[in-house]
Amino acid sequence: MRRKLAAGNWKMNGLAAQLTELEAMKPAAATQQTDVLICTPATLVSRAVDAAAGSTIAVGGQDCHANASGAHTGDISGAMLADAGATYVITGHSERRVDHAETDAIVAAKSEAAYANDLVAVICIGESLDERESGKTLDVVGTQLAGSTPAGATGANTVIAYEPVWAIGTGKVPTLEQIGEVHDFIRTQLVERFGAEGEAMRVLYGGSVKPSNATEIFAVSNVDGALVGGASLKADDFNAIITALDAA
Ligand code: 13P
Repeated sequence: MRRKLAAGNWKMNGLAAQLTELEAMKPAAATQQTDVLICTPATLVSRAVDAAAGSTIAVGGQDCHANASGAHTGDISGAMLADAGATYVITGHSERRVDHAETDAIVAAKSEAAYANDLVAVICIGESLDERESGKTLDVVGTQLAGSTPAGATGANTVIAYEPVWAIGTGKVPTLEQIGEVHDFIRTQLVERFGAEGEAMRVLYGGSVKPSNATEIFAVSNVDGALVGGASLKADDFNAIITALDAA
């Protein structure tokens, strides 16, 4: 039985004042069946950990460098995130794949750096609109999954997030059939490669998840939760998503 996961990705949003929203998520996060994670900007990780004290809300980073330390100005290592109190890190978000030319091999190396620091890697994959419209979705998702997930992935150290690029921040959501097709495909691939560990890995859907569509998305097979951008910035919205997931 996989535990559900409601994960928020604040992206490049949030100053210290935003932590009142995280504090207002504590009551909704006190569920029995659902893990709650907020991935803040790196500058807020340590303060978010303090703000989450006394709750079950986990705090994560949004990226880490593949190397443990060194001459990489502006980058952040897995050890630094762990030292600041993070327990998760997003790797391979499509915005980083596009903005920073991250390849599957780089994402796999970053995910290994996460494991080395006892961080759970939330590995993101997903097709562009062109790839969807030309019928390449499963090919693209399969290639990204295989190339971005390290050999040492387990149910405990890895979460997969399926985020169709065209659904991120657009208000456009795939049909429930399309979500189910990709999630079932990801599960099959994970089980083929990792056996029981592949069965244990959580697979999240991400892309324009809102309180208004959360319940129907969480009813789709092999959807173990969501990776939420815009709707994770406000406690009212994210709390409704947590509650919908817990009830699914
Ligand atoms: P939105 O929920 O804002 O579409 O963002 C999704 C996302 O990219 C989460 O990582």
